[in-house]
Amino acid sequence: MAYNLLQGKKGIIFGALNDKSIAWRVALRAHEEGASLVLTNTPVAMRMGEINTLSAACNAPVIPADATRIEEMEDLIRKSMEHFGGKFDFVLHSIGMSPNVRKGVPYDDINYDYYLKTLDISALSFHKVIQVCRKLDALNEWGSIVALSYVAAQRTLFGYNDMADAKAVLESIARSFGYIYGREKRIRINTISQSPTMTTAGSGVKGMDSLIDFTERMSPLGNANADDCADYCITLFSDLTRKVTMQNLYHDGGFSSMGMSEKAMNQYDKSFRECP
Ligand SMILES: NC(=O)c1ccc[n+]([C@@H]2O[C@H](COP(=O)([O-])OP(=O)(O)OC[C@H]3O[C@@H](n4cnc5c(N)ncnc54)[C@H](O)[C@@H]3O)[C@@H](O)[C@H]2O)c1
Repeated sequence: MAYNLLQGKKGIIFGALNDKSIAWRVALRAHEEGASLVLTNTPVAMRMGEINTLSAACNAPVIPADATRIEEMEDLIRKSMEHFGGKFDFVLHSIGMSPNVRKGVPYDDINYDYYLKTLDISALSFHKVIQVCRKLDALNEWGSIVALSYVAAQRTLFGYNDMADAKAVLESIARSFGYIYGREKRIRINTISQSPTMTTAGSGVKGMDSLIDFTERMSPLGNANADDCADYCITLFSDLTRKVTMQNLYHDGGFSSMGMSEKAMNQYDKSFRECP
């Protein structure tokens, strides 16, 4: 159901790789709510070709850019402003990648070149996007910038590796830049801490199936899926959340406030009986 929450708004969506991507679901919802969009991803992701399907569905151009490269960010923001005929209203940063996770390198024997890459792609790119937007004065007042995070920034979850550190930096950037951009231009900056979700990035996490099962059992409302996340993003891009900024907002069915649930306890009891 559409509510026209983004009627007349314009925004850039980073990170739609395929129809499982959270960014993909957000783009479809934002389009449905009346927004005009620009889609972007790396040239490598572009070569997979799937984003053209989304581009057609949302009537949105695709501008390739690597979010770790400042020149490419400047080019993207300038071209987006040309496309929109001026400033725009929202940005979704839905970007994450860890070469250590991808290559199965454990946290206690980490490859530091990979570690820097993880931080650059998954956290510093958020700073870069915001800094370029601010320098080019690209966003309308009361605009909204959202990045996607994960509870591993606060709690240790086996197998999440250096992405946990990247998410902690990402959330801190939302607070540090949220103050500066809010004070100057009333731009709000938040992170959404999303349930584990079976996407291309998600499936790279060690034991993802077990993690999804565990958080489903632990969360009173169950895991939030990518479409639920899209709905939440829409509220944050809309005018209904104009005083929400510098927050890490849990969108996880209640998982982050739980210690133990009955469903998880039952599971534990069962395995305890099976393996005395
Ligand atoms: N899937 C989950 O369980 C989960 C949970 C919480 C948060 N998140 C976060 O959600 C975000 C989106 O991930 P997803 O799960 O939709 O997976 P995804 O693999 O579909 O999306 C990740 C995207 O990052 C893009 N990317 C990688 N390097 C880039 C670069 N240098 N420049 C620009 N884009 C780049 C990829 O091309 C891809 O489109 C990530 O920040 C991820 O950490 C995911």
